[in-house]
Amino acid sequence: MAKTNEHYDKLQAGYLFPEIAKRTRAFQAAHPDVKVMRLGIGDTTEPLSPSVIAGLHRGVEKLADVKTYTGYGAEQGNTELREALAQRYRGYGVTIEPDEVFVSDGAKPDSANIQSIFSAESVVAVQDPAYPVYVDSNVIAGRTGQWKDGRFEGLVYMPCTAANSFIPEPPKGKVDLIYLCSPNNPTGAVANREQLAAFVAYARKHRAVIIYDSAYAAYISDPVLPRSIFEIDGARECALEISSFSKEAGFTGVRLGWSVVPKTLACEGAEPGKVHRLWNRRQATMFNGASNVVQEGGLAVLSPEGQRESAAMVAYYMANARTIKQGLEAIGLTVYGGVNAPYVWMQTPGGMKSWDFFDKLLNEAHVVGTPGSGFGPGGEGFFRLSAFGHAEDIGAAVTSIQNNLKL
Ligand code: MLT
Repeated sequence: MAKTNEHYDKLQAGYLFPEIAKRTRAFQAAHPDVKVMRLGIGDTTEPLSPSVIAGLHRGVEKLADVKTYTGYGAEQGNTELREALAQRYRGYGVTIEPDEVFVSDGAKPDSANIQSIFSAESVVAVQDPAYPVYVDSNVIAGRTGQWKDGRFEGLVYMPCTAANSFIPEPPKGKVDLIYLCSPNNPTGAVANREQLAAFVAYARKHRAVIIYDSAYAAYISDPVLPRSIFEIDGARECALEISSFSKEAGFTGVRLGWSVVPKTLACEGAEPGKVHRLWNRRQATMFNGASNVVQEGGLAVLSPEGQRESAAMVAYYMANARTIKQGLEAIGLTVYGGVNAPYVWMQTPGGMKSWDFFDKLLNEAHVVGTPGSGFGPGGEGFFRLSAFGHAEDIGAAVTSIQNNLKL
């Protein structure tokens, strides 16, 4: 008799973004003449840059010729791309070997899959609020109890509040896996060196592992802020990093990311090298490598011209972030983030519940955002607006909020 995985039954409603899309569709069906403005999911809108398009074409051309055709590639990724990514880390003053870089089809699958190489008994700590994949993947793996009073039993929530500028302290007790995301989705907060150093010290003391998501690193313009956890001394012994071309180069639909798993990374019961070996084993068993065409596109992103073009794309979205932040501040709303990150995190007016504000914003201003409570109990009373969109649409959305939202 087959049974389904009982842990799925613990998950709450639908995954956040499909739920938002469902509610938006229902509103649109009831108001067909209204133009809804979408600042919900952080999905890129601007076309791929010329050198990336040329790179993708090169990948296709190679497949058209028997002399350059390739079938399956290495599960860990194209050697040249792994070297180019290791080179990027050298630019941060960090030594990463090319064979410590695992190319993948994106940071979301890696964030969801990485937990599978750790013990089912691991105690997991997440920032609260957090990108839902960290929590849900561990719920599905059975590392939590039931959902009770707005949180999962057995999960350690690290509160991110205005009082700590949305960067938490390391946990008081002992945990095994710590998920950190900086620049943060959803709060837009960026951890500084001292804050990350506290987590590295904690992880080394407790033989814990930091799973560091740097998918938004390209949005950091302040040279003092770290772009990688490996900029912190000792991180190679206790951290791995997951990252992506999605937000840096518009690859949300193209799909390409990577994880760095240092061979020096150790944890309780695992000598240096073991975590690296296990991730290699996991990928070789369950993944057949990222698309060869797409990896050519990734190489193009990392070329000097590709980097200049990506910087222009990032600057475009960051101008949107400023439009949102300044536009909301002008009407007296309290907002955070949006400086070295493409997300603006606002306090809901009058302490409204996040989903109530979602309905209010949609009904009054015809703007879709993301309810903070969808990212965890600490997000209740907050709301996220995404800077990914055409500048004119973002401008229209902000104007509509200013003119139509009843405060
Ligand atoms: C978001 O809106 O949080 C992101 O776009 C989701 C993702 O990157 O998967």
